[in-house]
Amino acid sequence: MMRAGIFFILATVLLVLLMRYGAAAEPEYADIVFSRKTPGADEIPAAVFPHWVHRINFKCYVCHDAIFQMKAGAHPVTMDAIRDGKFCGACHNGKVAFPVGFDTCDRCHHQ
Ligand code: HEC
Ligand code: HEC
Ligand code: HEC
Repeated sequence: MMRAGIFFILATVLLVLLMRYGAAAEPEYADIVFSRKTPGADEIPAAVFPHWVHRINFKCYVCHDAIFQMKAGAHPVTMDAIRDGKFCGACHNGKVAFPVGFDTCDRCHHQ
């Protein structure tokens, strides 16, 4: 009986800590909505970068600052650059991650 009580208290403390610090860290890894730097291409919504999904797969330094600075909007990303293997294109080339193709546009471009 005693043991179960202590276990319950420990489990509760752990849960409270997780909720508190887990939630506090979240905003840093939230989705980043890109702002379009190319005028006249508004028929397709701006790209959304899901930070969290990438953070699970890679250490920070894989992207920061080798590919991206730690600052939203810091880069003039374009499709030409991506197709050239820069920015997202360093991985979204069909080898490391899904490539740019007409069946994948809306995985990056959605609202
Ligand atoms: C797969 C690549 C990738 C990985 C891995 C990654 N990031 Fe990022 N990060 C980005 C991109 C892309 C941006 C936005 C850059 C832009 O808008 O030009 C960004 C932006 C940021 C920003 C700025 C956010 C803002 O609102 O200004 C911070 C802070 C950041 N990252 C921290 C981290 C940390 C900490 C890690 C590891 C835990 C990490 N990133 C892992 C790609 C990555
Ligand atoms: C791996 C993610 C990704 C995929 C897949 C992708 N894009 Fe993009 N695209 C971006 C990013 C990031 C930008 C820069 C931010 C913005 O303008 O939305 C961009 C920019 C654009 C732009 C602005 C003008 C330009 O040429 O840069 C257009 C239009 C565009 N994409 C269309 C498309 C179309 C059409 C497809 C499918 C054939 C596609 N994108 C696939 C990430 C992607
Ligand atoms: C360091 C490599 C790397 C870079 C750089 C990178 N990605 Fe990814 N991305 C991945 C991997 C790996 C996955 C998961 C495998 C897959 O879906 O093909 C992924 C998955 C995604 C997904 C799907 C997430 C989901 O919910 O399943 C989107 C959307 C995406 N990336 C957008 C982007 C955009 C936009 C950029 C540039 C701003 C970018 N990525 C840069 C490696 C990368």
